[in-house]
Amino acid sequence: MAFGAQESFPVMRPAVRETYGPADLSREPVFAGGFINFGYWRGIDLKAPLGEAERVRSQQDLYRRVLDAAAPLRGQRVLEVGCGLGMGCALALREHGPAHVTGMDIHPAQLGRAREAHARLLEEVPRRLEFEQGAAEHMPFEDGAFDVVVSVEAAQHFPDLVAFAQEAARVLRPGGRVAVASFFAADDAPARDEELARLLDTYAKGLDIARPVTALTDALTASGLSGARAESIGPQVWAGWDAWLSRLWAPDTWPRNFLRAYERRILDYYVVTARRP
Ligand SMILES: C[S@@+](CC[C@H](N)C(=O)[O-])C[C@H]1O[C@@H](n2cnc3c(N)ncnc32)[C@H](O)[C@@H]1O
Repeated sequence: MAFGAQESFPVMRPAVRETYGPADLSREPVFAGGFINFGYWRGIDLKAPLGEAERVRSQQDLYRRVLDAAAPLRGQRVLEVGCGLGMGCALALREHGPAHVTGMDIHPAQLGRAREAHARLLEEVPRRLEFEQGAAEHMPFEDGAFDVVVSVEAAQHFPDLVAFAQEAARVLRPGGRVAVASFFAADDAPARDEELARLLDTYAKGLDIARPVTALTDALTASGLSGARAESIGPQVWAGWDAWLSRLWAPDTWPRNFLRAYERRILDYYVVTARRP
């Protein structure tokens, strides 16, 4: 099995190890259905009472938004980087007809949960779905192994976006596409790290890393991919996420500050796409 540029497996950062290990973020009531993302809130009335069905749909719709950005997937080999419990891999198989989906995650506990959650599906379609341990910066795959690379709400944790972009470019075949959804700082002003750490615990604790979205688009371009572009999906993410949070968290508690950071224009949510020429 061929590996990327680095010799040894990158060390998992302690905040990632804890959050997705013993703490098992997927069990937090603000997430639902095995997904761990803020959601893409389209066609959901945010003024009506929100229940688990709406919450799950928002998270599925974030996947649909990213998979549509990477389409067509029919008959394609798809890699998801930071797959968590693999709910998005199963959705892709169900709805997009790819030939094969590989869910990769750095955390072995997440992969254990994914294999358990999809035990039946793995038996039913043994040659179309698999879960593998690997880091975004060091992927355990051959050059050109995939037609499509996607990632949903994981890139905010990647310590090295340049290495991720190089690996994404390496494992894509010529003509392959990448689509990444995540949140980024609005620009690279030095004050952003502190501002975000003051507002948001996950930045203060080092789980999320403040970088502008251009750090990713520039890295994809420098890795030889073409047409790298970032589209803001903030309007479909932040208001819905905050409306959902308001059931459990009072105003001014830390997660409610995601919306505040967006309104202050220091944070936004993007879908980033590029193609290997
Ligand atoms: C917020 S969860 C998102 C999970 C899933 N994509 C979803 O939307 O439900 C982020 C995932 O990224 C994984 N992750 C964090 N850093 C990573 C890295 N450097 N390489 C690969 N996966 C990573 C975590 O273990 C976690 O499962």
